[in-house]
Amino acid sequence: MAGLFAALEASALGPVLLLTKAELHEGSTRHAQGGIAAAIGPDDSPEQHLADTIAAGAGLVDERMARILVESAPRRIRDLERYGVSFDREGAGRAFGREGAHGQARVLHARGDRTGAAIETALAERVASGRVTVREHTLATAIALEDGATAGVRALDGEGGERLFEAPAVVLATGGAGAAFSHTTNPPVATGDGIALAFAAGAEVTDLEFYQFHPTAFRQAGAPPFLISEALRGEGATLRDGGGRAFMRRYHPLADLAPRDVVARAMVAEMRAAGADHVWLDCTELGGVDPIARFPAIAAFCAERGIDLRRDPVPVAPAAHYLMGGVRTDEWGRTTVPGLYACGESAATGVHGANRLASNSLLETVVFAKRAVEHLASGEGGAMAPCADATPFAAGGGAPADAAEVQRLLWERAGIERDAEGLRAGLAAVRAWPEAASERSRAGRERRWLAVFAELLLTAALAREESRGAHFRTDFPERDDARWARRLVYRRAG
Ligand code: SIN
Repeated sequence: MAGLFAALEASALGPVLLLTKAELHEGSTRHAQGGIAAAIGPDDSPEQHLADTIAAGAGLVDERMARILVESAPRRIRDLERYGVSFDREGAGRAFGREGAHGQARVLHARGDRTGAAIETALAERVASGRVTVREHTLATAIALEDGATAGVRALDGEGGERLFEAPAVVLATGGAGAAFSHTTNPPVATGDGIALAFAAGAEVTDLEFYQFHPTAFRQAGAPPFLISEALRGEGATLRDGGGRAFMRRYHPLADLAPRDVVARAMVAEMRAAGADHVWLDCTELGGVDPIARFPAIAAFCAERGIDLRRDPVPVAPAAHYLMGGVRTDEWGRTTVPGLYACGESAATGVHGANRLASNSLLETVVFAKRAVEHLASGEGGAMAPCADATPFAAGGGAPADAAEVQRLLWERAGIERDAEGLRAGLAAVRAWPEAASERSRAGRERRWLAVFAELLLTAALAREESRGAHFRTDFPERDDARWARRLVYRRAG
C-alpha cells in the first residue's frame, strides 16, 4: 500500500519507477483484515483517536506526529475512495468495526475481512493503468549515494545482473520484518530490506525493540501463517482455555479487548500452564453478527480445515505481526539521508510509540506516503535533522546458512518475553554467523538483511532495561520506567 499509494501520487510530478522484489501484489497489505482507523463516525473525534493512540503507545508516541495522523484521516479515506476502494456500509453510512484499546468503533473495513486485499487491488489496478513503470522481480541491493545524497538505487534484475537506476529521490516502502520470526502473520517477503538498505546508506533507525505480537494467529501443525482478526473479538469472540473457560478477565479489566501485549502474554501464561501450543477463540456468540458473512476470508480459511466458525472454536496463538520501529522519519517522510524517504511499516514515524493501536498502520501508511510526495513536489529537498543521541553501531557481516536459523533465534530470544541472558546469547549467535558472500540471489541477500535486522533488534532489546508496550523483559518487569521514556536510535558507525 505504501509503495502503490506513493507511486500513484508521485506520478503527477513526473516519471515514477516502482521496483518490487516479487510480484506487485505481494506484501503485507493484502493480508490486512481488520481495517483502517479513522475518527469519522458521528460520535467520534480526532481528539479521541489521538488519546487512544497515545495511551496504546505507552509513553513513547510522538504527539505532534500522531496529531497529523488522526487529523489527516478523513482526507486520506476520501483519497482511497477516489482510487476505487469501496468501504463496507451499514444503512446510509460507512460501517465501523471495533478493535482492542479503541474507545470507539472507528475501524473502516472493506469486503468484510478482506480490507487489505480490497485496497491493494484497487491501487494496483490504478498503477497498471497509469503512468508508473513497474519492474517486478527486481531486488534493491543498495541506495546509491553521491556526496552523501541519494542518487538512485542499485538492484538485481531477475537474471542476477546488478544495475543502477538513477533517481533524484527514493521512497522506501519495503514493509516490516515478520519473516524474521518462526511464527508470524506476515508473508515471506517481509524481511526488513528497507531497514538494512537505509542503515547501510547511513540513515538512522529506531524503535526496533518494539515488535508487536498479534494474539490470535491461526495455529495448527502444517497450516500457513494466517491472522484471525482482532475484529472478531471486537464483535464479541472470546478466548478460552482447553477446558472452555474464558480467562482474559483475570488478566485485564478490558478482558479480550485489552492491549495486544497484555492479551499475548496472558495467552502464553495459559499455554505454558496447560503445556499447550495454542488456546481457543470462541466465535459462536457474536451478538447477532453472522461470522461467515462478516468475516468471509477467515470463515473460508477455517472451513478448509474443517472448522465452522458458527459451531467450532479456532486454535490460536500469538505471532509476530507489526514492527513499530524502522527507518527514522520526520513529518514529511524524510530520513536523515538527503533524497531518501520511507513510509509504511518500514518507517518509524513515532506515531505508534512502543505499541501500535490496531488499524493505525494502514492509516499511517497512506498519511505519510502522501506527505512524502507533497514534500517531493515542494522541491525543498534537505533531510531530517540527525538525532544528537544516536548510537554509532557496527553490524557484523555474517549471515546464517538458512533463514530458519534467524527465525528460531528471534522467536526464542527476542519474542514475547525477553531477558538479558537470552538476548546476549542471541547476539553471540548472530555474531558467530560466517561472513556473508557477496550474494547474487534474492534468498542470500534476504538472509543477510535478516541478520542485520536481528542484530539491531537484539541490541536495542538488550539496551532497554525496562518493560514498555510490546517490549517485555522478565528480568525488568516493572513497566514504563521514567528513565527509559526515550527512543533508542542507531546509525552505522563510520
Ligand atoms: C487485525 O485485524 O486483527 C489486525 C489489525 C491490525 O493489526 O491493525
